[in-house]
Amino acid sequence: SVDHKLNDLIRQMTLDEKIAQLIQLAVPFYEGAGGEGQITGPMDSLGITQDTVRNSGSVLGMAGAQDVIDMQRTHLSHNRLGIPLLMMADIVHGFKTIFPVPLAIGCSWDMELAEKSAEIAAREAAVSGVHVTYAPMVDLVRDPRWGRVVESTGEDPYLNAKFAKAFVRGFQGQDLSGDYDRVAACVKHFAAYGAAEAGRDYNTVDLSDRQLREFYLPAYKAALDEGCEMVMTSFNTVDGIPATGNQKLMRKLLREEWGFDGVLISDWGAVKELIAHGIAADESEAAYKAIRAGVDIEMMTACYVHHLAELVERKEVDGSLIDEAVLRILQLKQKLGLFDNPYRAADPEREREIVFSDAHREAARELAVKSCVLLKNEGVLPFSRDRKIALIGPFASNHDVLGPWSWTGSKDAAITLAEGLSSKLGDQAKLVIAEGCGIETATEAQLQEALAAASEAETIVLALGEHTDMNGEAACRADIRLPQVQLELLRELRALNKPIVVVLFNGRPLDLHGVFEKADAILEAWYPGSEAGNAVAELLLGDANPSGRLTMSFPYSVGQVPVYYNAFNTGRPQGAPDAQVRYVSQYLDIPNEPLLPFGFGLSYSEFEYSEVSLSSPVMTKEAPIKLTVKVRNKGIVAGVETVQLYVRDMSGEVVRPVKELKAFRQVALQPGESTEIEFILREEQLRYYHSDLSHESDAGEFIAFVGPNSSTNTRLPFRLEK
Ligand code: IFM
Repeated sequence: SVDHKLNDLIRQMTLDEKIAQLIQLAVPFYEGAGGEGQITGPMDSLGITQDTVRNSGSVLGMAGAQDVIDMQRTHLSHNRLGIPLLMMADIVHGFKTIFPVPLAIGCSWDMELAEKSAEIAAREAAVSGVHVTYAPMVDLVRDPRWGRVVESTGEDPYLNAKFAKAFVRGFQGQDLSGDYDRVAACVKHFAAYGAAEAGRDYNTVDLSDRQLREFYLPAYKAALDEGCEMVMTSFNTVDGIPATGNQKLMRKLLREEWGFDGVLISDWGAVKELIAHGIAADESEAAYKAIRAGVDIEMMTACYVHHLAELVERKEVDGSLIDEAVLRILQLKQKLGLFDNPYRAADPEREREIVFSDAHREAARELAVKSCVLLKNEGVLPFSRDRKIALIGPFASNHDVLGPWSWTGSKDAAITLAEGLSSKLGDQAKLVIAEGCGIETATEAQLQEALAAASEAETIVLALGEHTDMNGEAACRADIRLPQVQLELLRELRALNKPIVVVLFNGRPLDLHGVFEKADAILEAWYPGSEAGNAVAELLLGDANPSGRLTMSFPYSVGQVPVYYNAFNTGRPQGAPDAQVRYVSQYLDIPNEPLLPFGFGLSYSEFEYSEVSLSSPVMTKEAPIKLTVKVRNKGIVAGVETVQLYVRDMSGEVVRPVKELKAFRQVALQPGESTEIEFILREEQLRYYHSDLSHESDAGEFIAFVGPNSSTNTRLPFRLEK
């Protein structure tokens, strides 16, 4: 059998050769490697020998068919047992064809397109020599100060779990071993990295077990249920113990309870960081804790290489732990076909043919169109092609539209908004373009040029945003407004009294004060990827109708964060019939509600909800209930509505969220068309984690809500009887 052969191989390996399989190194460690690959953490020489490099198990951040083939060939030429390298890289939202950032993909609520984006990313990455992608990132996020919210699909466990599955299906396909156009997925960052205190990267996470299971774990579990091959540890603590050395989390929960038997990799440097965290006195103890927790691969530090052998000799670590880790790594290499063909799909000729192909770019455009969210529209959008447009702002002609984790993409090849609009408008006389200001700096000359451009135009399109480096890893912001110079530019233009459409290119929900009240329309484009300008231009001109819906709340101001829709009621909720003026859970200076809630997004159509009903006021385990609602497009253009179903459990053993998304349906409706939508609600959907961590429902009163976003107040009470 396969494992038999692999065990034979392991028997032939020396202890040092085994331990070397457990280290993962960035490209610069390899002699003669083409380029430095992708560097995504602090570089250090690690004090390792060439011998370790030559026996290492996997490479970080390597791509490019010919370079991968050369590196693998060199490696095999001096690897005693001929064990091929695994090539891993962050292929997060596309390889050369860059799709919208994951937070934007989330806003599409479109699992099919999300899956397709991952499938295309896998195909391009695989032909360029990548075997494993460190994706999907499924951390639930509630704090827009955290730079990495851009990598997540948002604040909802149900939706995140659905996306996690879609991405894993897209990356891995049905049968990874037989399909060289796919790559193995590595779900990250286990666990609860998104709950970093105060939105500061790498910061402490401290959650109750219940909170962890109820909100944070479902998406990782969903990825694993879909067959995800690998898991990456997170940098943060979980109940006082950093994830990378956390036996309860990794051995007990991930391996024993969930039965995960794939490869567990640390994040970059996270094993050695156990020292800085303060749970290991030195590298040796860090290695001891990580291997015992079940971490198979140590990424970019060398605690295992330096200390595991002596720990085994001193009998502090059982040699079987190392054999198990090596076996899992070899099993993955086997599954990917590397023992039969160490170059796998890497093929320079085919790479030139399929990477960044028209078909792939078309898929990126389609998803970009669906990911944009119309936040405001006072009758100015879409605008007609006859209008004279001034396109102004630091993102007017900016190629920085790919977002973080697009290292293999080409910014230069990305379509800017200016390019997209001018190719759609045809008549160049209708479009004047001026930068107005930089992203964080401005000159008087820029401003004057913008004012002159605007004075000639009938409508101003103002493209504002954050540059990519203001988002992503180690890119947190305490002030989540647009940079002052951009707010100032908007103020100056407003004084001209012309309609202003703001298009936002950014990676997090922003504090939109200074923008929301001044703009006539706002389109949140996020970082739309390679086809940015084409997608946004289509929406502005009405060739496509916006259908994106927010999956992360936009705070009223930063003082509210974290603010999310599935919160608890508190004992003194605002707006309760018996609430007094003072002793209420509220702010004195701002509302409790976010500026824009989860699920929100406008359309050029208008949708009307009516005839809402439940099949029965009583649900039992055996008898689900059916919720029916009629949705009509009252508008004059075809559009897509995302009909959302929420539930509130009125009285649980522990407090329950004021609303929880349970289902949704996207419907395309022609003007005047209506449709009846049915949701079946079952007892399983009402289960939650009790104080003893049992997962069950309670008999009692519930309310179902249906509507266009999480602030819907269309309520249908029912009872669960048991
Ligand atoms: O995959 C990433 C991770 O998300 C953050 N640290 C570095 C890893 C490898 O690049």
